[in-house]
Amino acid sequence: MAFENEIDRRRTFAIISHPDAGKTTLTEKLLLFGGAIQMAGEVKAKGERRRARSDWMKVEQERGISVASSVMTFDYEGRTFNLLDTPGHEDFSEDTYRTLSAVDSAIMVLDAAKGIETQTRKLFEVCRLRDMPITTFVNKMDRETKDPFDLLDEIEQTLALDVSPVSWPIGMGRDFLGCYDLLKDELNLFDRSKGDTIKEGIKCSGLDDPKLAELLPDHALNKLREDVDMVRGLCPEFDVNAYLEGTMTPVFFGSAINNFGVQEILRGIGQFAPKPRVGKALERSVAPNEEKMSALVFKIQANMDPKHRDRIAFVRIVSGRFKKGAKLKHVRSGKIMAVHNAQLFLAQDREIAEEAFAGDIIGIPNHGNLRIGDTLTEGETLRFTGVPSFAPEILQKVRADDPMKAKHLGRALEQLAEEGAARVFKPNLGSDWVVGVVGPLQFDVLSDRIRTEYQIPCRFEPTTLMTAEWVEGEPREVKAFSDSNRASMAVDHAGAPVYLARNSWHLDRAKDDYPSLKFLKTKEEI
Ligand code: G4P
Repeated sequence: MAFENEIDRRRTFAIISHPDAGKTTLTEKLLLFGGAIQMAGEVKAKGERRRARSDWMKVEQERGISVASSVMTFDYEGRTFNLLDTPGHEDFSEDTYRTLSAVDSAIMVLDAAKGIETQTRKLFEVCRLRDMPITTFVNKMDRETKDPFDLLDEIEQTLALDVSPVSWPIGMGRDFLGCYDLLKDELNLFDRSKGDTIKEGIKCSGLDDPKLAELLPDHALNKLREDVDMVRGLCPEFDVNAYLEGTMTPVFFGSAINNFGVQEILRGIGQFAPKPRVGKALERSVAPNEEKMSALVFKIQANMDPKHRDRIAFVRIVSGRFKKGAKLKHVRSGKIMAVHNAQLFLAQDREIAEEAFAGDIIGIPNHGNLRIGDTLTEGETLRFTGVPSFAPEILQKVRADDPMKAKHLGRALEQLAEEGAARVFKPNLGSDWVVGVVGPLQFDVLSDRIRTEYQIPCRFEPTTLMTAEWVEGEPREVKAFSDSNRASMAVDHAGAPVYLARNSWHLDRAKDDYPSLKFLKTKEEI
């Protein structure tokens, strides 16, 4: 039973938001409450120190965006939380989508003055495709905000989601006094001092408790009573099953920077958010409490520590228990690998994992043999699905400033492609490489990384290419097609043939001439 308890107490989640809504601040405070850091602010301080060491993150600093996702594990009130950080900028959505495929639920952070913003909406749609339970945190209540009723209405209307507030704000901006916990009948008073102390709420016997009159001014208490009456009349009661099915979101109000509402949302996640879910493989469904371990690679990150040139595969354990030294089958190659040095991500520090359970994320250092979408098992042939792959939308040529470094550039590009940072194609003719990305900012990040991590100054240049499509079919047919279209053919980092089309007329003609071939915009990463 101890084994099942370990799995049941895990909560693996991510935070989605529009840039600036307060995701970083909330993350920091969750870690503070989780005891993973001593003092709020440490995430940033550490981050800055790390950035100083790792030059490629300069892009992150210059642009004020968070490029790399990371994982943070912490315990709180008997539960283990795995928080997967997602980059907020839309150019990095590929990474974000993959990260979201590895969590069981998400916190949606809204800026109380802005409500649902474009990026919140896009990320929400990804979560909805997976019927993922969403908990809403309305942040920055210490500032002038929209009316809370309007905010609830906006969430309901724009996201077509039932909303059920679990706390209710008393005032806003300069007059923000705190929240009333509707589930527990508790008053949480707002303390403007930005200290790192954790306060417990004041237990009440309901809104008529005389204690409330002592703690709140008359007008605020009257308004609270009126509001709560309306909320209880208008909004459905919180229904945990509707939440788990992804049709209802519980709404918390707070102010992350002031530590306010953070403990409540953490407890909410602990109490209501789903435990590790069933994994879907092509062969069968895999329950988290199966004894045999299985896991899925959802992200690769190279050079996390430039001194070590390491490449970490982020692996979600889908079932069973991982033990240090486990011999795991790498299903794609059929090879067995002994995993001695897997890492756990305890807040910002990496630590060798002795054991980990379904729901946990471990990092496995490797030299490129693990790829996104790969499955690891104790022997069974399983291929997990669900890690999304995206069509490269913008194609550019890349060339090393020093032509002698062309080979090195090729290797760097291959590594970045395996990491999932971009699609990389080597045309059959010519010495340039073609790189495909989803958002243009990715080119800046790539060129910065190639320069700082591989010491190869290089230039990206526009091409006249419209699209790159993978060509699949009977090998002889593929070869015939490749031979007669040599000038437009390339291979991707794994050697698969790709057709680089200049315009839709070319592409249509190729499809008409070879009806038995499949032209694919993405390559499934399984
Ligand atoms: P993000 O990761 O979602 O992009 O947002 P982040 O946490 O970086 O927060 C964006 C800005 O909002 C920051 O201010 C942060 O201090 C502020 N903020 C976060 N939570 C609250 C809150 O509850 N109340 C108020 N009033 N502000 C909040 P900044 O000036 O851009 O950055 P900084 O100089 O403070 O770091």
